[in-house]
Amino acid sequence: MLAKKTIVLGITGSIAAYKAANIASELTQAGARVEVVMTESATRFITPLTLRSLTGRPVVTDMFEPATEYSLEHVALAEAANVVVIAPATANTIAKLAAGIADDMLTCTVLATNAPVILAPAMHASMLQNPVTQDNLAKLKARGFTIVEPGYGHLASGKAGWGRLADIETIIGTIKQVLGRKDDLSGKRIVVTAGGTQEPIDPVRHIGNRSSGKMGYAVAEAARDRGATVTLISAPTSLPEPVGTVVVQVQTASQMKEAVAKAAARADVLIMAAAVADYQPKDTAKNKIKKETPDLTLELVRTPDILAEVKGDFIRVGFAAESENLVANAKQKLQKKQLDLIIANDITSTGSGFGADTNQVTLIDRKGKVESLPLLTKREVADRILDKVVKLF
Ligand code: PMT
Repeated sequence: MLAKKTIVLGITGSIAAYKAANIASELTQAGARVEVVMTESATRFITPLTLRSLTGRPVVTDMFEPATEYSLEHVALAEAANVVVIAPATANTIAKLAAGIADDMLTCTVLATNAPVILAPAMHASMLQNPVTQDNLAKLKARGFTIVEPGYGHLASGKAGWGRLADIETIIGTIKQVLGRKDDLSGKRIVVTAGGTQEPIDPVRHIGNRSSGKMGYAVAEAARDRGATVTLISAPTSLPEPVGTVVVQVQTASQMKEAVAKAAARADVLIMAAAVADYQPKDTAKNKIKKETPDLTLELVRTPDILAEVKGDFIRVGFAAESENLVANAKQKLQKKQLDLIIANDITSTGSGFGADTNQVTLIDRKGKVESLPLLTKREVADRILDKVVKLF
């Protein structure tokens, strides 16, 4: 989604300026054309040569220096931008933007652009907390700027506080989200489930499965990047929560059912990639079961079938992880659960299914059309599923 996009990356004079090199590098590697504009003070922290080497593009530092095709005609850069991102954004630059001051190439570009603008502030905690800075940020937010909130941590002053530049993943996730606003899922509300539910036996043990959550998280991120408003209902995973989505953490099938029912009430699409336990212990022991207990027998009862039971008028997409009779079994589930689309997941093929970064799936729609995909990354699979969903609207 970043491929062929023109991203103006503004860098201002903060010690966090060195982190902009990673942002520039990741965006460039993802195929974006990254046009770096640095304020004069930013060049004291990191050299334009570093950014030029990482992006393969000339770096603008001076409005009057004809170093690039954009230097003389500063509006051209503003017009070429699909998005303008300032990371790090100092209190000084934020104040200039709030006041409409345009006394360098970066502030001129922001004033002249119609593209969305993202600010990732980084500064000392007391400067961030100063009411002037807070007012300026509120003013810019009200004008449609997206603010990537700074985090808490070690600051250049040596003290800990609020004001650290947000994580690079958060900044890049926000760029993708903003770029996707006008894409083919814009205005659609999509609920995605991910991970494997855990059904407690006692306070320390549970019945679980091998789902890592990667497939569901990839669907959530892809939907976000295509403009959807995404609610991700996640059973426990070790994955970071995708930026720009509402994440509801659950543990058990029953909790997932409740969260799905609530979110689906306003949804256009429900995509259930979660591996939901089919059975749960009839009773959960209050205290840890001692291993002195001789043989242990657990009585298991069925969990609710979330996908089959959830009510509402939305597109229903299920997954079926199968080790045999892939298409026949998946078709059966599609019919039984009244789905619009099922993703038959071949868990026997190498690099596919639980835990892998790739997946091999077959898409089956309710008319019986079967489309087998090659081994793809989970993100590619997610986009192929969403291509189908778009056609179902
Ligand atoms: O998380 P990863 O490591 O990336 O792995 C991805 C995956 C293999 C878990 C995923 O791609 C997948 O295939 N998920 C479905 C797992 C499965 O076998 O589901 P099922 O056949 O038990 O259920 C069919 C459908 O009904 C699924 O959409 C499931 O979410 C849903 N279901 C199942 C049981 C239940 N009680 N309620 C449900 O809603």
